[in-house]
Amino acid sequence: MSEVQAIILVGGEGTRLRPLTYGTPKPMVPIAGVPFLARSMERLYEAGITDVILAAGYMPKAITEYFGDGSRLDMRITYAIEETPLGTAGALKNVEEHVRGPFFVFNGDILTSLDLRAMIQYHKKKGGVGSLHLIEVEDPSAFGCVVHDADGAISAFIEKPPPGTAPGNDINAGTYLLEREVLDAIPAGRPVSIERETFPQLIAAGKKLYAHVTNDYWIDLGRPENYLTAHRDVLAGIMPLLVEPGITGEGVAGLRDRRGIVAPVHLDAGTTIDPTATVGPNVVLGRACHVEAGAVIRESVLWDDVRIGPRATVEESILASGVCVGSGAKVGAGSVVGHGYVIADGVEVAPGSRLSEHKK
Ligand code: GTP
Repeated sequence: MSEVQAIILVGGEGTRLRPLTYGTPKPMVPIAGVPFLARSMERLYEAGITDVILAAGYMPKAITEYFGDGSRLDMRITYAIEETPLGTAGALKNVEEHVRGPFFVFNGDILTSLDLRAMIQYHKKKGGVGSLHLIEVEDPSAFGCVVHDADGAISAFIEKPPPGTAPGNDINAGTYLLEREVLDAIPAGRPVSIERETFPQLIAAGKKLYAHVTNDYWIDLGRPENYLTAHRDVLAGIMPLLVEPGITGEGVAGLRDRRGIVAPVHLDAGTTIDPTATVGPNVVLGRACHVEAGAVIRESVLWDDVRIGPRATVEESILASGVCVGSGAKVGAGSVVGHGYVIADGVEVAPGSRLSEHKK
C-alpha cells in the first residue's frame, strides 16, 4: 500500500452550530483553545499521514490562512474550494487528480480517539474497496445505521431508522479508508452523498465494504450540546487530548488566587479572573478573557477576548470571541452567543437562546 493520503471534508456550513459558524467555519471552532481541525491534523501526523487534501467551501479563507501549505506542521496540504457544495462524495470526486492510492476520508466535525494505524491494518487484512469506521450507540435513530455480518461485510445502509426499527446499533462514524477505484463510482459535476448514494451503489454492484467497529471515544461536534460535552470529556481526560485534568493552560500562570476556581478548568494566555469570581467546573476560557468581581461561570466554553462583568453569571453556554456580558447579567443554560455580541447590564438571557449580530 502506498502512503495513505487523507481527505478532510470541511465544506459544510455548520448550520446547527449557528451563530458560532457565522464568524468561524466549523473546522476552525476551537477545542480547548486550538482550532478543531488543527487537533485533527495532529492526530494524522502522529499516525504518519502527512499528505492532506482539504475539501472546503464555506469560509475557506479562515482555513487556508491558518494552515497555509502545511509546511509549518511538516505536512503537505492541498486545498479544493467548492463554489457550490458538492456533497460528501462529490467533494471527493472533485479532488480526484490529487489522489494517488488508498485514502482516508474524515468528516471534519468528528472528535474521536480512533487508532488510524489499526484501521489501516484492518483494511489491508480485509482487502475490500473500503473500510468504514463504525461505533455502537444505544439509539441509532439519529444516525446512519450500517448493517454488516460477523465477518464485517456490509450489506445495507439505513439513514436515520425510526426508533426501534434498526436491525443493529452500529452507526457510520464518519471515517473511511477507501481504495482509489471508489472515485470511479462517483459521478462528476453534481452534488453526491457518499452515505446515501455511493456506498449503497458500491454494495449493489457487488463491491466489498467492511465495518471496522471500535469502542473508541467518538462525538459529533456539530451540535452545541455535543460541543460542550466534548469539552467536558476533554477536561476529564476521557478524550485524551493535550489537556490534563485539573486547572490547566497558559493562563494559569497569571492567576492571582485559585480559591474561586473549581477544577477542571482550562485557561488560555492573557486571561484574568478576579479572586472573588467563581469559575468552574468544566469551564474553558480562551485568550485574553476577563472575568470580573463576583462573576460566576459554570459548564461553559468562552472563546477569546470575552468579558464577563461584575456579578454576571454564565451557565452551560458557549460564548464566541469578543462577547461582552454586562454587570449582573445572566446567561441561561444552553445559550449560544455569537461573535462580538453585547449583553447589556442586568439582562437575563433565557435558557437556550441564540444571540447574534449577524444580519442575513
Ligand atoms: P450542519 O449544517 O449543521 O448539518 O453541518 P454541516 O454543513 O457541516 O453538515 P454535516 O455535519 O452533515 O457534514 C459532515 C461533514 O462533511 C462536515 O465536516 C462538513 O464540513 C462536510 N461537508 C458537508 N457537506 C459538504 C460539501 O458539500 N462539501 C464538502 N467539501 N464538505 C461537506
